[in-house]
Amino acid sequence: MTQTGEKLVPHPHLKQFYEDESQREEFVNRIFDDTASKYDPVNNILSLGSGIRYRKQALIRSGLTSEMSVLDVATGTGLVAAAEISIVGPKGSVTGLDRSYNMLIEVGNKLNIPLIQGDANVLPFADNSFHFLTMGYALRHVDDLKGTLKEYFRVLKPGGILLILELMRPTNKMIYRIVQLYFRLMVALISIPGIGGKNEGRLIKYYWDTIDKFVGSNIIINTLSETGFEEAKSHQIFNFFTEFTAIKP
Ligand SMILES: C[S@@+](CC[C@H](N)C(=O)[O-])C[C@H]1O[C@@H](n2cnc3c(N)ncnc32)[C@H](O)[C@@H]1O
Repeated sequence: MTQTGEKLVPHPHLKQFYEDESQREEFVNRIFDDTASKYDPVNNILSLGSGIRYRKQALIRSGLTSEMSVLDVATGTGLVAAAEISIVGPKGSVTGLDRSYNMLIEVGNKLNIPLIQGDANVLPFADNSFHFLTMGYALRHVDDLKGTLKEYFRVLKPGGILLILELMRPTNKMIYRIVQLYFRLMVALISIPGIGGKNEGRLIKYYWDTIDKFVGSNIIINTLSETGFEEAKSHQIFNFFTEFTAIKP
């Protein structure tokens, strides 16, 4: 487990990207700010089938229905939020939050929803505010897993549902090799100017390194239970695409 003091960090220090832990937050902000304008086209190339359709299916599977109020943390360019809007309808609401200013500009150009610049670890909302909370492909990037999950518990209403989408390191050796090779090829392809560029190539390398070094599913499920969530579980596709769900009692 990667635990420092009271904090539970998602992966060990990655010195190929930042020199020491104190620089991690700045690194994460910069890499997403620098790639925000190309995030959607890069995501289309890389998606491996985890596009908007998959996000929508995962939301429905987890219990999102019309008229719910939703907070989408780490909304990025709004791919999860867009699927949510189509499910909750006009009587529901979707709010997006992200730490990257440039990502918020991108989502603001596409979706007409309240957007807030903030950190998953310190949510600017009252207790018991939302029926549903989502985080798509960003738990690997937070500063403190425990602090983040505590915040999710706090802002969800009793009976509220949490859905975290993540890419987990495959435990099957063959699938691990296939996914590792796929990411290596994608780093080479997406680094080509015109398709992506140097920053985008580095982002994909960072994705793989964080997937490879991320704490296991059992730690996420245990931390959800320790935080007070009930029915914490994961659903996996291809031993890679993972949906963590839990309910606030
Ligand atoms: C891979 S993108 C995912 C975007 C979107 N959820 C999706 O499914 O496509 C990760 C996003 O997480 C955001 N992020 C990373 N750490 C964060 C934090 N601690 N608090 C809020 N947002 C964060 C980044 O700025 C980036 O927009």
